[in-house]
Amino acid sequence: MKAIAPGKLILSGEHAVVHGQPAIAMAVDRYATASVKQHARSLVSFDLLNIKYHKDHSISALRALKNQLLENYEAFQKGEKGIKDVLKLPMELTQFAVTNFLDKLNHKLTSGMQIKTHSEIPIGCGLGSSAATILASIHAMANHLNIELSEESYLNHGLEAENLQHGRSSGIDLRVSYHGGCLQYHNGTVDKLQPPKFPIYLVNTGSPKSNTGECVSHVKQVISEELLTEFAKVTTAFKQGLLENDIANVQQAIKNNHQLLVKIGVVPEAIQSFISMLEQQGCAAKLCGAGAVHGDKGGALMIVSEQDPTAFCETKSYHCELIHCDTDGLRIAS
Ligand code: MEV
Repeated sequence: MKAIAPGKLILSGEHAVVHGQPAIAMAVDRYATASVKQHARSLVSFDLLNIKYHKDHSISALRALKNQLLENYEAFQKGEKGIKDVLKLPMELTQFAVTNFLDKLNHKLTSGMQIKTHSEIPIGCGLGSSAATILASIHAMANHLNIELSEESYLNHGLEAENLQHGRSSGIDLRVSYHGGCLQYHNGTVDKLQPPKFPIYLVNTGSPKSNTGECVSHVKQVISEELLTEFAKVTTAFKQGLLENDIANVQQAIKNNHQLLVKIGVVPEAIQSFISMLEQQGCAAKLCGAGAVHGDKGGALMIVSEQDPTAFCETKSYHCELIHCDTDGLRIAS
């Protein structure tokens, strides 16, 4: 049983979406997969290929880990721990998602399970690798156990896991990976939109030193009602440009969104300089996802341009590629 879930790009409104503003995101043709099969012993075995983690656990050991992570999260919510002290090791996110799913459904594992995950979505770069891996794991398990889940169940299970990483997740990464396509997300409501007809180029500027949770915590300190209103205006303008396929207006909205991301302090200076150079070439560009509050790497950067910016990016030592919309979302691999 193999499940597949796409990554995502936030085209407009990241961070503001955590504070109740609209955002627009698109599922992309980069995927996480998870497969589940029966285990000879009554253990849960994890084969997490990206982080080279291969280990068997008893369900009681997993439950102890889950409870520890929930205690850490509670301490974070009370301000006693930073978000970086909630999940300490990279395998814990999947282990939590799997255990929480089994416990929430009150599922008595009568035999063991082997779970294997792989993601071609670069990890920790704003492309939704965690959300896609969590959803693929839950979907593969649900199918293996013949359990039918509603959309809300997928999202609630996913959100509980993602909160351990984001501190407070808006849920947009999970929604767009679940549905596929392009959508506007606003306070839990999804409106499907036509995917962009203009080309979108992607540059991975490298893994940020800070994770999503740290960026979300930082933004909570600096965001104001005024800035949130500005973010909402930019997303409305982006949506208008998208609906009318008006590249000039889309580009202007992206430039304004970039300036707002600079104002909230999630765009490293090296990336600001690169974006200025891109703008001089007639492109519009912005970081997508959480960005970074330390270091000089910012994760995924999207470029909208009438001219192919690939050669220019190469001159600045950045690899640039076209990225396409995935329209299918979470599914079982055929
Ligand atoms: C992360 O992909 C996007 C943020 O807006 C966080 C969230 O929406 O949960 C930074």
